Amino acid sequence: MATELLPIGILVSGRGSNMESIAEAIDSGQVPASIKIVISDKQEARALELAAKRGIKTLFLNPKSYPTREAYDEALAAILKKEGVELVVLAGFMRLLTNNLLDRFENRVINIHPALLPAFPGLNAQRQALEYGVKFSGCTVHFVDVGMDSGPIIAQTVVPILEDDTEETLAKRILVEEHRLYPKVVKWIAEGRVKIEGRRVRVD
Ligand code: GRF
Repeated sequence: MATELLPIGILVSGRGSNMESIAEAIDSGQVPASIKIVISDKQEARALELAAKRGIKTLFLNPKSYPTREAYDEALAAILKKEGVELVVLAGFMRLLTNNLLDRFENRVINIHPALLPAFPGLNAQRQALEYGVKFSGCTVHFVDVGMDSGPIIAQTVVPILEDDTEETLAKRILVEEHRLYPKVVKWIAEGRVKIEGRRVRVD
């Protein structure tokens, strides 16, 4: 039985390794989704180049062209809707979203964060974990709300912190797990297996 492909849009700002891991999983037939567009708020984002190389439609949407965050998000939402996007995947997108976008994609925006939320939200999560001295960190995929990394958690992977870890070695070890976890969650959502019940997310 052919499964319908979930149309997704990916928002990026930088390196694009999570975007790549999702694109690869889709190309190899593991995830029933199709990437309609990759949008960046940074013109120089490597992610845009990588997406273009794969033949994916790309767009640089300049925040400076909009008077407010709300106006920017409204434009973003309009473009994503026009492309038929049903799931918005943040992959290293360095902006907080407002309700101008979130209301139009209710429970349809996800993000990945390189720590075990609710610990260490925001920037430099790996450094925060090292400085705090926790023995385990990891990555979290969650639904996005207006807060900073505060939406309902879909899935997490635990990564141990080693004695001689630096921010770089820890980030690298977590990134390996990010690349496994994020495509898996997109697959679950594409298969209609993810349900939100208040703050709790159930995966059937
Ligand atoms: C990842 O560590 C992700 O968890 C965080 O931003 C980074 C993006 O990396 N949100 P990349 O652009 O996907 O390589």
